[in-house]
Amino acid sequence: MHTLTKCLFPVAGYGTRFLPFTKSMPKEMLPIINKPLIHYGVEEAVVAGLNELCFITSRNKRAIDDYFDVHYELEQQVAGRDQARHLQDIQDIMDNTCISFVRQRHILGLGNAILCGKTLIGDNCPFGVVLADDLCFNEGKNVMQQLMDLYNQYQCSVVAVQELSPEYIPNFGIVTGETIADGTIRVSDMVEKPSLDQAPSNLGIVGRYILTPDIFTLLENISSGVNNEIQITDALRQQAMHGQVIACVFKGLRFDCGSTKDYIAAINYCYQKHSGHQN
Ligand code: UTP
Repeated sequence: MHTLTKCLFPVAGYGTRFLPFTKSMPKEMLPIINKPLIHYGVEEAVVAGLNELCFITSRNKRAIDDYFDVHYELEQQVAGRDQARHLQDIQDIMDNTCISFVRQRHILGLGNAILCGKTLIGDNCPFGVVLADDLCFNEGKNVMQQLMDLYNQYQCSVVAVQELSPEYIPNFGIVTGETIADGTIRVSDMVEKPSLDQAPSNLGIVGRYILTPDIFTLLENISSGVNNEIQITDALRQQAMHGQVIACVFKGLRFDCGSTKDYIAAINYCYQKHSGHQN
């Protein structure tokens, strides 16, 4: 049994829903108060014990590399002053993780982005995947920890799912299967972005996964699916047909920060939660 220590962060997408901002800035650098989305995603992984972080980036995403690097001039400027505390969180992440980057040269979809991580992950390690634009908050275990509990129990791929209202179903990968425990489903089939009448359930996959390494061979051999993209759902479907995917109806709140409505809601949520906090 392999211990989970690695996490992939696909951050190479164009973020077209946030144009023109995303013309020169990665969507994942959108701030939620004073921390970018990617910071929250990384914190979730690190709290879950994943400290080998692999970013799948692309052109125009250098702001992410810089965020996770030293900034000597700034650090010297605030050293010994009260403002230094604002750098403490990011410093802790940098001190306690190993971070690598690989570029996705052609933006061919999430499945292709994950495949780009193969050389960093290796052939025999299960790994987490966090899509930072899905921002999640929990009182107890975070979403990645909830997935890890199920991975440790079932030793196969695990996806986070959420019950969706009908208008959202055509935007998600939708799963179906047998409920084997409270909030736990052994997935038998899944379909990417179905029309409402084709959807097998109302359970949509959100941006948290644990994948077993055979996913890479599956991704290498599938062709483009919906929207002419290499879809992770199509590779997971093949694992699901062999009973090798568990869906976790996760506990917690999720904001789709790729949409302006949820992005604003997330900021309001954080502001209210920390309204006692003064800069
Ligand atoms: P999304 O579809 O939500 O992001 O992909 P997007 O394509 O950047 O945004 P829109 O829809 O155009 O506004 C989910 C995640 O997968 C990454 C994105 O960066 C995002 O974090 N992704 C997507 C890649 O890394 N590579 C891809 O080829 C596609």
